Amino acid sequence: MEECSMSGDSYTPQPLDRDARFYVAGHRGLVGSAVARKLRSEGFTDVVGRTSSELDLTDRGAVFAFFRETRPRYAVLAAAKVGGILANSTYPHDFLSINLQIQLNVMDAALEVGVERLLFLGSSCIYPKFAPQPITEDSLLTGHLEPTNDAYAIAKIAGILQVQSIRRQHGLPWISAMPTNLYGPGDNFSPTGSHVLPALIRRYDEAAASGADTVTNWGTGTPRREFLHVDDMADACLHLLEHYDGAQHVNVGTGQDVTIREIAETVAAVIGFEGLTEWDTSKPDGTPQKLLDVTKLTDSGWTAGISLEDGLRSTVDWYREHAGALRG
Ligand SMILES: NC(=O)c1ccc[n+]([C@@H]2O[C@H](COP(=O)([O-])OP(=O)(O)OC[C@H]3O[C@@H](n4cnc5c(N)ncnc54)[C@H](OP(=O)(O)O)[C@@H]3O)[C@@H](O)[C@H]2O)c1
Repeated sequence: MEECSMSGDSYTPQPLDRDARFYVAGHRGLVGSAVARKLRSEGFTDVVGRTSSELDLTDRGAVFAFFRETRPRYAVLAAAKVGGILANSTYPHDFLSINLQIQLNVMDAALEVGVERLLFLGSSCIYPKFAPQPITEDSLLTGHLEPTNDAYAIAKIAGILQVQSIRRQHGLPWISAMPTNLYGPGDNFSPTGSHVLPALIRRYDEAAASGADTVTNWGTGTPRREFLHVDDMADACLHLLEHYDGAQHVNVGTGQDVTIREIAETVAAVIGFEGLTEWDTSKPDGTPQKLLDVTKLTDSGWTAGISLEDGLRSTVDWYREHAGALRG
């Protein structure tokens, strides 16, 4: 998608006011909790959030009432219905409908009260299944999506368009970021709802604890994936809000990928699982490779700092410490 000339483009990125109110939508989730941690550690004094039971973001009236009451100056939209291949392919309508509703409600209400800087978070699944690798931002809408998560992807593409339309029609300097696969403390480790890396951590940890000889993973293990620690993601969010302005979304990743087989071996080693790994090739692999081109992000002055091995170790530690209180 071409970057358009917009009135929002006249904005010059600058440091955010640490005392202004900052709303993190989805502040209990993997990304939102990391963003809230990052903001507080960077001196933001008025970070607000609401759980989904306090404020259901699909309830349009309640969302407008919340924004009129709290009037945040900045916002990160990290609330979404999120899941792995199984959840996405089983409940496509939920992923489409709930995410469209959350995005429309939050952005329309934020527009009404004039939120100055808003960062919308999409996902790398917005890109065509066979997009040239590494995937540049320009690949958007150039081919067919991966069918297992097309409904979710279309909702996220609509979110990018919403940010661009608000920039063009209302001149607000809002931006969008498309993260690669994320992992870290606070992730969803549930057997049916989780992404590949937390699913692997749980599977290998349970196998090690039960003394199982074998772990069976879905697919062939050959697809290549990129993983970014969520604390790096949160750092990138603040960086973009303070250093980037433009209609085009920005990829956020490490710029390096590994095979699922390699990641499974690393997880097994970090966990201490000494048995065999088998691959159930009757199960789908998903997209063969997904590596983001992060040139735009790098050019803006940011690169990832947490290595996969370090990030995995701290995530496994967190998983074990919270084993009795995980979501899902
Ligand atoms: N995880 C990844 O690998 C990844 C990769 C790329 C992009 N992203 C993007 O990052 C964003 C956040 O993902 P995540 O991994 O942090 O997801 P997550 O851990 O599942 O967190 C999502 C949060 O959204 C909130 N939420 C969901 N439905 C809601 C509703 N109806 N009303 C209010 N709040 C609601 C939940 O709040 P409660 O906890 O209060 O219920 C939850 O904390 C998403 O846009 C996702 O597309 C994630």
